Amino acid sequence: MIPLLQEIQAHYGYLDEKVMRKASSSLGIPLSDLYGVATFYSQFSLEKTGLYIVRVCHGTACHVNGARDITEAIREKLGIEEDETTGDGRFTLKTVACLGACSLSPAMIINDTVYGRLTKKKVTQIITRLMEENNKKILKK
Ligand code: FES
Repeated sequence: MIPLLQEIQAHYGYLDEKVMRKASSSLGIPLSDLYGVATFYSQFSLEKTGLYIVRVCHGTACHVNGARDITEAIREKLGIEEDETTGDGRFTLKTVACLGACSLSPAMIINDTVYGRLTKKKVTQIITRLMEENNKKILKK
């Protein structure tokens, strides 16, 4: 079920209820099983999210090494709180438990890319770069 849910999320940006129901009936998988998996793993979202999902680790190692400051820097840069999406629909900010990259703490993951040994300056540069890359993509269209 995980690859199926990943595909749905990759296509729609989140696990849309209508699509979940259709997948359930088409594949004969109980809807409750799909939601059971979807709610167990933090990689899945049941709500519409931004193009970039920023997940800042607040596990023990990251917490000790400044995860709160990292989250604060991102909140200031994007002007949103945790679990919110920017008005332009580009960024969603989430905090999560251990990413499994403790040796890189403090760490975050944006979509599929892990960033480690973060500082407030570094995280601001990363977000700025993503904004600029996205602006270039929009201008090309
Ligand atoms: S505690 Fe942050 S990656 Fe493990």
